Amino acid sequence: MTIITTVEDLRVLAQKRVPRMFYDYADAGSWTESTYRANVDDFQTIKFRQRVAVNLENRTLKSTMVGQEVAMPVALAPTGLTGMQHADGEILAAKAAEKFGVPFTLSTMSICSIEDIAANTSKPFWFQLYVMKDREFINRLIDRAKAARCSALVLTLDLQVLGQRHKDLRNGLSAPPKLTIANMIDMATKPRWVLGMLGTRRRSFGNIVGHASSVSDMSSLSAWTSQQFDLSLSWKDVEWIKQRWGGKLIIKGIMDAEDARLAVESGADALIVSNHGGRQLDGAQSSIGALPAIVDAVGQQIEIHMDGGVRSGQDVIKALALGAKGVYIGRPFLYGLGAMGEQGVSKCLDIIRNELDLTMAFCGLRDVTKVDKNILLPGSFK
Ligand code: GLV
Repeated sequence: MTIITTVEDLRVLAQKRVPRMFYDYADAGSWTESTYRANVDDFQTIKFRQRVAVNLENRTLKSTMVGQEVAMPVALAPTGLTGMQHADGEILAAKAAEKFGVPFTLSTMSICSIEDIAANTSKPFWFQLYVMKDREFINRLIDRAKAARCSALVLTLDLQVLGQRHKDLRNGLSAPPKLTIANMIDMATKPRWVLGMLGTRRRSFGNIVGHASSVSDMSSLSAWTSQQFDLSLSWKDVEWIKQRWGGKLIIKGIMDAEDARLAVESGADALIVSNHGGRQLDGAQSSIGALPAIVDAVGQQIEIHMDGGVRSGQDVIKALALGAKGVYIGRPFLYGLGAMGEQGVSKCLDIIRNELDLTMAFCGLRDVTKVDKNILLPGSFK
């Protein structure tokens, strides 16, 4: 029995339990994966200032994201195909997030549908939207998210085209997986996963199949993406989406101060500094590297969140110190899910909470909302 104490332990277990096609889909970056790696590596160059003999009683990690209370300033990121890491994956992750008191963000490209999550949780979750050519479909998605009482809409702007992910192409990624000899051999070594999948009816894109007429023949994520994602997307579209939605709006995929200013002008409630986990433009700066300039440019005008490369509570506190009000974890919770289902996602959140809390204490603070640049060693960050 492996003892799990880190996110890396969950990753190792997930790699053993999840069919390669889906493990690779979650874990890989685009092209050379240099941005994917930089997201993780750039956290390591930032150093803390250790403080001692400070009263550390009654510490709290409670904060808010877009005005909503969170048990710690961490949200589960929208991730595609989550229900392929584990049967009913989105439902399990949403339940773990709800119990913990952090937001769960359901991706448009999820396996379980908006209605599935609403039926299996009691607190509001967040919904992530891609803009697709079929505007009627988008309108209906927004209305479905409203009907499900989602409490924030995360609008992703960095996926008009799909970054080339070599592993997905080689693995012939599709949901459900095609039963090639190679896939069957791989799945034969993942009996737990197969059993779970046999026990659920949720095996394809739940928000889309049966809701969009043009995608009944969808055979792979990348083929579908290239047909449906909107090359003409502009900030004008953000306006009508904001109007139709009418609730909290979070813009995801900002890496540039100029775009950050446009996000402010759009009237969004928050923006997410994100390079899509290194899955889109390879060669882009790391998210943590991009964060300070964006905070400098618009930090007074809009709430700033970040994602990309976060693998520990220490990474979370570094992002908070550099001005993020909230931090998203994608791969860490997917590893937890692939490793141990709902329990694994809870474990991941516990690990991150513990690391965040202890690091905050070592830096001499008791309240996560007071974290700022003073906890970092000057010269070790921009
Ligand atoms: C979808 O957002 C993906 O990164 O695959």
